[in-house]
Amino acid sequence: MVSLWHDSLGEVNQLNRIEHHPILTFPEKRTLTFYFDGKALSGKEGDTIASALHAAGVRVLGHHFKSHRPRGFYCAIGNCSSCLMVVNGVPNVRVCVEQLEEGMDVRSQNDKGVLP
Ligand code: FES
Repeated sequence: MVSLWHDSLGEVNQLNRIEHHPILTFPEKRTLTFYFDGKALSGKEGDTIASALHAAGVRVLGHHFKSHRPRGFYCAIGNCSSCLMVVNGVPNVRVCVEQLEEGMDVRSQNDKGVLP
């Protein structure tokens, strides 16, 4: 089931989370605010950065530095390089295995990344 909610800026976001399941239960988790390319979004405690972005409807995490093709979730276990993003100023972070934290600054990566 997909539901709509308003983020801290009053913008409508589309959550893509399973809310009801015939066998599994999902305990309520704390909401965390983070920033994606400067826009405030919300995720849940226990999310990876990629799962929070995915739940907020973000599918394109960056673009390949040569072909400029969009990149997103692929393996989702930290074995490829499809989800590299800049997190808190650090490039080449595999966001599919990086835990979401309150106030994180997450940015699309469209190049090889320059170390700070
Ligand atoms: S999707 Fe493959 S490392 Fe993140």
